[in-house]
Amino acid sequence: MKGIILAGGSATRLRPLTKITSKQLLPVYNKPMIYYPINTLVTAGIKDVLIIIAPEYAGHFLNLLGSGKEFGCKFTYEIQEKPRGLADAFIVGENFIAGDNVALILGDNIFDENFKDDLASFKSGGLIFLKEVPDPQRLGVVEIDAHGKVLSIEEKPEKPKSNLASVGLYVFDNRVSEIAKNLAPSARGEIEMTSYLGSPAINNAYFEMGELRAKVIQGAWEDAGTFDSLLRANTYWAKKHQS
Ligand code: TTP
Repeated sequence: MKGIILAGGSATRLRPLTKITSKQLLPVYNKPMIYYPINTLVTAGIKDVLIIIAPEYAGHFLNLLGSGKEFGCKFTYEIQEKPRGLADAFIVGENFIAGDNVALILGDNIFDENFKDDLASFKSGGLIFLKEVPDPQRLGVVEIDAHGKVLSIEEKPEKPKSNLASVGLYVFDNRVSEIAKNLAPSARGEIEMTSYLGSPAINNAYFEMGELRAKVIQGAWEDAGTFDSLLRANTYWAKKHQS
């Protein structure tokens, strides 16, 4: 299993914090944000990691992270010229994936959870992860059966069918790059993980093939892309270090 960290994007919601630097380089308590997704992949047993970055900050990431030796893995870097959407990770990363299974983690998603067993037992299809949240209508909402098979998946629904939101870690088999290359952009001009206003998307493609499974996580999760969620992530890890 290979790993990809998607750490480009425009981070407009965090301006002016991100006017002259990348979101994924901002501090979360005692480390730059990107250390957390790196740690999530490494503790899940992944040794080969592609980091996708925006051209403006490529040098900063290389200086900070280097070869990956310090983290016990090997880093490869690719530049995403424009933020074309989350699913673009599988196109930019196609040569790196090279026919293997792949786990994609978003560079601003911070987990306190060990995914080792889930990744080790993955065989084929798609596997996404869910977290119970109080406000599912602002996220991708997923309904599952007792075996973890996905029954429905909806982006920002007015009437959510569950309180389980899809989080920023996804595992797919080697068909994912081909699927990504055939996606048309959504109304917001991006190629999507989950259908946006009826657009095609990676998760929906695996769902329609009957091959999308989901697992509910118990540990903490934060998408640190807004001022409030970034503050929550800082507070969570500060408390964890002090306890
Ligand atoms: P988002 O938070 O959806 O987008 P963003 O980081 O550009 O922020 P904003 O909405 O405030 O403008 O992205 C989630 C993660 O994926 C984040 O780590 C950035 C990354 N990303 C890319 O690397 N390339 C892309 O094309 C997109 C859309 C996101």
